[in-house]
Amino acid sequence: MKFKTQLTAKLLASNLPAEEVNLLPASYQQLGEICFLKLNTKLHKHKKIIGKAVLELHPQFKAVCLKKNISGEFRKPEVEAIAGSLPNDILIKENNCVFRFNPKEIMYSQGNHQEKKRLIADVKGNEIIVDMFAGIGYFSIPIAKTHRDAVVYAIEKNAGAFRYLEENIRLNYLPNVIPVFGDCGKAGPKIPKADRVVMGLIPSCKNFISAAARIAKPDAIIHYHGLAKEKKEYALLNDFKDFKVRLLKTTIIKGYKPHVNHVVLDIKFI
Ligand SMILES: C[S@@+](CC[C@H](N)C(=O)[O-])C[C@H]1O[C@@H](n2cnc3c(N)ncnc32)[C@H](O)[C@@H]1O
Repeated sequence: MKFKTQLTAKLLASNLPAEEVNLLPASYQQLGEICFLKLNTKLHKHKKIIGKAVLELHPQFKAVCLKKNISGEFRKPEVEAIAGSLPNDILIKENNCVFRFNPKEIMYSQGNHQEKKRLIADVKGNEIIVDMFAGIGYFSIPIAKTHRDAVVYAIEKNAGAFRYLEENIRLNYLPNVIPVFGDCGKAGPKIPKADRVVMGLIPSCKNFISAAARIAKPDAIIHYHGLAKEKKEYALLNDFKDFKVRLLKTTIIKGYKPHVNHVVLDIKFI
């Protein structure tokens, strides 16, 4: 039976008016043992009842949560548990890799799944790769797991995320990921020249383009993430107006908000 039909049936006894029942979500998102709901604001006054009903329908979850904003330099998520209790650590599997992290402190975007697969397919053997905004290893770990001859330098500035990055490297048995704690904008001699540079900070990593240019070998590929208006994704290239670059490819990763997409440009400095 469909999620919304089940939930509606469960909530019949709660005297929710018909017009509000119609606003119930059609689906949920699963992150490990957590169920995330997107709830119409008109339903927020009933959030506890709805959360409890979802938990009863899906007892495999430890918590039902509302996903709110992700904000700040460290991309901290705002998560509100409306039923159950939110664990401090969750373990999730993706692309044959495992990731442990605290969902109250660390974001995880399932919408980037295809982009990770694309990157894995694009890497050729023994490359040196620098992941400038590594987080808990979202890109570094799947690349290194598939390409054992590649070496990935994973830079992360947030001490909390860095601890999980180190743990995830261990959990996935990856001696070819070198975690580097600090600001990638000040990347020093610990970082060798790279064949490929991943710049995965949203909403913008424009302030780090000169650092990427310093890190990149002459023929390196840069994967530059950013936000762009729908159908004007090419405009993201304006971020490079002070640099000489060649655009290799533009990929839309996902919708970010209405009429704005999360986009990645593959470019080379020339
Ligand atoms: C959340 S991740 C990007 C996630 C990835 N794009 C995804 O959604 O799967 C961005 C990471 O960059 C880190 N970060 C922000 N500024 C940084 C800097 N100057 N140097 C290194 N890491 C930085 C943040 O702490 C965060 O962990």
